[in-house]
Amino acid sequence: MRVQVLTIFPELFAPFLATSLVGRAIEKGLLEVRVHDLRSFTEDRHRSVDDEPYGGGGGMVMTAPPWIRAVRALSGESGEGEGEERPWRVLLSPQGARLDEAKVRELGEKRDLILLCGRYEVIDERVRLTVVDEEVSIGDYVLSGGELPAMVLIEALSRQVPGVVKLADSVENDSFRAGLLDYPHYTRPPVVEELAVPEVLTSGDHAAIRRWRQREALRATLAKRPDLLNPPEALARLTPEQRRALDQVRDEARRDEK
Ligand code: ADE
Repeated sequence: MRVQVLTIFPELFAPFLATSLVGRAIEKGLLEVRVHDLRSFTEDRHRSVDDEPYGGGGGMVMTAPPWIRAVRALSGESGEGEGEERPWRVLLSPQGARLDEAKVRELGEKRDLILLCGRYEVIDERVRLTVVDEEVSIGDYVLSGGELPAMVLIEALSRQVPGVVKLADSVENDSFRAGLLDYPHYTRPPVVEELAVPEVLTSGDHAAIRRWRQREALRATLAKRPDLLNPPEALARLTPEQRRALDQVRDEARRDEK
């Protein structure tokens, strides 16, 4: 998978791209990330990327020409031509569709992405109208720029690339993959602050452990994110065994309330 990033702060990406899972994915050639400085696509002496807004009002607006030039250059487009294989262009913005696991998977299938990281208040609307396929937001709050959202997206995307996460299993078990939260995890020491590891996990009974994990994933989802279990298609995704476990966990929760 190839991701190209357009930003006026390319230096923000260096440690992120050199560290941990993303760093290893790049090192192994499973993921390619190229970060480009938007200012390299300016044509004036001051390399300026913003100007005052038409119509007045406070703040500055990022000018369209450097963005349009940059995106076209990175797409390998000479002009208006729409090459078949051109990259999918995503503008990180609080006005975009909210990023979730389904969106990450959808973007991962594109295999070739350009991420536009805006700064300042806003970008000239004509950027969105000419060289953006889709706007994506990482949540309903406003950050000073799209760089952190782009890193969030790159990290989430990298986990989907085959071979990046060591145990394929562990991506499959990730929270949200199956529409459920993860079950609780424990490691040594066996007792922490008088809290012992659940006995089943040290029993060696793999079938019992699997059932416990399934039940606890449902319990966590019900307690922390009941909205994930509400839509009818959420219940349809559960196996009959999971549905029985959910009924059991619900009964227990009701009993605990009394
Ligand atoms: N840029 C500023 N805020 C953002 C957000 N919440 N998501 C994506 N890009 C942004």
